[in-house]
Amino acid sequence: MEPHRILLAISGGIAAYKAPELVRTLKRDGHEVRCMLTPEAERFVSPLSLQAVSGESVRRDLFDPGEEGEIDHIGLADWADLVLVAPATANLLAKMAHGLANDLVSAVLLATRAPILVAPAMNVNMWSHPATQANLETLRARGVATIGPEAGELACGWEGLGRMSDPAVVAEAAAGLLVPSSLEGLRVLVTAGGTAEPIDAVRSLTNRSSGKMGFAIAAEAARRGARVTLVAGVTSLPTPHGVDRVDVRSALEMREAVLAAFEDSAIVVKAAAVADFRPVDASDRKIKKEQLAEGERMTLELVQNPDILQEISARKGDRTIVGFAAESHDVVAAAQRKLARKGCDLIVANDISRADAGFEVDENAVLFVWPSGEVEELPLLPKTGVAAQLFDRIEKLRERR
Ligand code: CTP
Repeated sequence: MEPHRILLAISGGIAAYKAPELVRTLKRDGHEVRCMLTPEAERFVSPLSLQAVSGESVRRDLFDPGEEGEIDHIGLADWADLVLVAPATANLLAKMAHGLANDLVSAVLLATRAPILVAPAMNVNMWSHPATQANLETLRARGVATIGPEAGELACGWEGLGRMSDPAVVAEAAAGLLVPSSLEGLRVLVTAGGTAEPIDAVRSLTNRSSGKMGFAIAAEAARRGARVTLVAGVTSLPTPHGVDRVDVRSALEMREAVLAAFEDSAIVVKAAAVADFRPVDASDRKIKKEQLAEGERMTLELVQNPDILQEISARKGDRTIVGFAAESHDVVAAAQRKLARKGCDLIVANDISRADAGFEVDENAVLFVWPSGEVEELPLLPKTGVAAQLFDRIEKLRERR
């Protein structure tokens, strides 16, 4: 994704402690980040730590000649490609809704012409109060985007809506506002994570896929304006912003979910690690040890699962279908054979023998293997970066048609 200039406005709630993490996430995505704080925010997060993580001086005071000399508040408002308010307290939302400008943060928010994203965080009763909801409605009607809050245990002891969304989710929502909507109007189907093939009521056969690559792909498609269906296998990841998620466990369930969404999809990316085999008879009760004599061996009979990628590629039509290939040796040759066998438009191949890429980690080193025989090797990139590169290729492929 292109680097952008993001101005982070932090207001005074306990969730302000998440601000440095949010700055780091945005910086990792390649953005330039500047921070400004309300006086109350300084009680929860130190300007010095924000300065350290952003690498920029932090703005706090509208009337400080030194600060204003460096970049005045109008300059700051004009500098931003996006203003992100995280956390946004009930008080700051009220000030924004009514156009107050009695401190640096509210003045910049009134002066900027950049898109604004707010991540509210507050006590559940403050959140549900009609005053707060009316303020939000006013802001939304003016085009201010919101992310969260989420439900959970709140710092004040109450349970309910009020937690600021995780920094990764906020960063994703921010990215969504910055990218041109090149996939607008298209439906994209993504599969992610490993499948779990039941052995009995409590056990299953599964694999090490975390789902991170597929989730990054779904998030990138949503960012580019697509309507995204994410068929997720076994994973503990949160649903990316703006994505419809269908949870499945076994390969057979994944096949059903994929076929249900396939007709309407223009692009399909199969990043899931589908189990090739499943136990022939899954017992619906727990298999007990007593069923076997001491030292007796047990044999688990397996049968092959249908190959979902091959099945949908056979009725591809004018869809673009991308498969993945996890290989431990002879990566290119194996991926080329897989591409020919499955009949998809592109294979993204992983060398799973590398420790720094692939399973469970946030980075990946992949090869794009094309039907023409061409092989493109990408450097080690964050999975979000791989996802962006992938959609750049897919868009080019579709343009050439
Ligand atoms: N795949 C699928 N259905 C299966 C197995 C795999 O749709 N039953 C898809 C995966 O989602 C991936 C691609 O096929 O996009 C390749 O998966 P991979 O596990 O690397 O290959 P396999 O076909 O299982 O071949 P092998 O085990 O021999 O490497």
